Amino acid sequence: MTNRIRRALLFMPGDDRRKIEKGATLNVDSIIMDLEDGVALNHKELARQTVRTALNEINFGHTERLVRINPVQDDHSLWIHDLQETLEGHPDGYVLPKVQSAEQIQRVAEHLTRAERKYGWIDGSVRLLAIVETAMGFVNLSEIADSDPRLAALIFGAEDLAGDIGAVRTQDGWEVFYARSKLVLYAKARGLQAIDTPFVDLTAEDSHLRAATEQAHYMGYTGKLVIHPRQVAVIQSVFTPTPDQIRRAKALVAAHNQHQTQGRGVFAYEGKMVDMPMVRAAETILAQARAAGINLSEFEE
Ligand code: COA
Ligand code: MG
Repeated sequence: MTNRIRRALLFMPGDDRRKIEKGATLNVDSIIMDLEDGVALNHKELARQTVRTALNEINFGHTERLVRINPVQDDHSLWIHDLQETLEGHPDGYVLPKVQSAEQIQRVAEHLTRAERKYGWIDGSVRLLAIVETAMGFVNLSEIADSDPRLAALIFGAEDLAGDIGAVRTQDGWEVFYARSKLVLYAKARGLQAIDTPFVDLTAEDSHLRAATEQAHYMGYTGKLVIHPRQVAVIQSVFTPTPDQIRRAKALVAAHNQHQTQGRGVFAYEGKMVDMPMVRAAETILAQARAAGINLSEFEE
């Protein structure tokens, strides 16, 4: 199943209908209606009803409709109620928090398979996105990434991870850098998207948000969690190739093709050596542009 583009994924508490309605108007790639940590324990039931009704009533346009459920655990069943009471609204997927093992993902997948049969939906069409944000989650990253064909993305959760390992969050983020980098490798090894932790400082200048998002993009991330509408434009733009990047990528691929027909695999281009890794990087940019709905034929080489 092809993976849709997920550059910005906007979170909102599932019990806040006003924010859900607002999220539906922002043209963001995905929204995540939260039933977990953004919802007080005594509002869980209200949040499930609000999410189900919103799914049935609101027109979200092209925006993907995701629901974050509570962690899959044996000792309490919040997550099962979350699933049972929202499935009828037919969300596009579920976001699973604090994932520590492949089995947790497979348990949710079994519920989804049953629901797809019951409602006559396409087999495997309800997707899963796993937030990895505990020490055990990172130890088991390989089995998590390989757990189930419904899995579309791994999401990095820095705040919970810092709490779990006793790290102190700093501006540079070195305390979580190994985990942030590891997540990209395991996601890409399995053909999954890698989505970065949210930028939680709502008072920071846009330039700080842009720098943090660019750093994720340079590391191989293809999207980032969003917690306020104000962050959407910056994040979505960082993960969208610019016209200049597209032109350069097209020109580089064309130069490569021309040299190939002349029997040359490596050549100098604008003062730099070019061989397959650079060509693949250019092709990745073109694929990202296509996924963002950009018509490449409009760009001159
Ligand atoms: N999604 C949709 N709309 C949002 C939003 C969000 N995440 N955050 C704010 N808005 C809306 C507000 O409802 C308000 O709309 P209005 O003017 O029509 O009333 C407008 O944007 C401005 O909001 P603002 O006053 O700046 O923020 P706030 O004080 O209402 O909310 C937060 C601040 C942090 C509570 C809010 O941004 C939020 O809920 N973020 C998501 C938190 C979350 O889900 N966390 C769990 C995962 S990390
Ligand atoms: Mg979390």
